[in-house]
Amino acid sequence: MDFSTKFNDLTARVERALDALVPALPPGSPAGPARIHEAMRYSLQAGGKRLRPVLALSAAGLGGPARVEDALPVAVALECVHTYSLIHDDLPCMDDDDLRRGRPTCHRAFDEATALLAGDALLTQAFVILGQSYGARPVLAAALLRELADASSGRRLVGGQMQDLLAEGGGTGSPATAAELEFIHLNKTAAMLEASLVCGGLAGGLAPDAIETLRRAGRHLGLAFQIIDDVLDATVDTAVLGKTAGKDARAGKTTYVSLHGLDEARLLAARETTLATDALRALPGDSTFLLELAARMLDRRH
Ligand code: IPE
Ligand code: IPE
Ligand code: MG
Ligand code: MG
Ligand code: MG
Repeated sequence: MDFSTKFNDLTARVERALDALVPALPPGSPAGPARIHEAMRYSLQAGGKRLRPVLALSAAGLGGPARVEDALPVAVALECVHTYSLIHDDLPCMDDDDLRRGRPTCHRAFDEATALLAGDALLTQAFVILGQSYGARPVLAAALLRELADASSGRRLVGGQMQDLLAEGGGTGSPATAAELEFIHLNKTAAMLEASLVCGGLAGGLAPDAIETLRRAGRHLGLAFQIIDDVLDATVDTAVLGKTAGKDARAGKTTYVSLHGLDEARLLAARETTLATDALRALPGDSTFLLELAARMLDRRH
């Protein structure tokens, strides 16, 4: 199977699992407020790239093709946490964005309170899914819960988002140093990419040393991913990005582009990608797909 066929096959499986595990209304409660579920699904089903679920499924596949199915619920849980982080990231009190995944942001399509609640509910739904889907395998369930909770915690994703806001030159903060910027990117973004590979590896039954190799690959891949996000913000049109271009400079954000310049930022992203692929090559099983995915994440246009 070539790369695109396999990628499309994996994303199609993710879409079906998302639809099943984040239902329009919780089963058996037809009287609940439909609005919250509409808002959750509005943002979830708006056509994201699904990179975190695909990373999880392909890491699980290193343990054999049959393991991919085992990783579907955690792949959906990762996408729920990611989508919550986007909804909150776009709120007026954070990045104040009107466009996401080619559509009006959740708070524009609904309202701020609904967007806040939809984010809260998606974050929580991730853990509902883990509990429901892996409850019969308590050792795996505990490992997945710990990994996803840690990645989305105040120490990682939320801590990175906090530091990102503190480093907005136009706000109350001051521009970040190179070390602070690395902290921001490693936590607001790389934490979830790292967790995607690690959770996939756990569902795939990989050995502890392979899990640690996946963690290292995810850290480098995640850093490269956010550096490229900074580059795309400065270089690609809104229509292609599906989110407002040029926002970082207008908001006075410290980014790899503002701190290092475009060329150096691209170079740093390439260097991180090489470190990630070096790690991926050391894994057991066939990592061809993950290697190609890493290369395409570096070369992406949105
Ligand atoms: C956007 O993530 C936010 C970042 C961490 C850079 P993606 O670029 O993966 O967004 P979607 O999921 O495809 O919308
Ligand atoms: C946000 O980084 C990363 C998240 C945890 C959501 P950005 O603020 O640069 O993401 P975009 O550019 O709005 O997608
Ligand atoms: Mg942001
Ligand atoms: Mg943003
Ligand atoms: Mg950005």
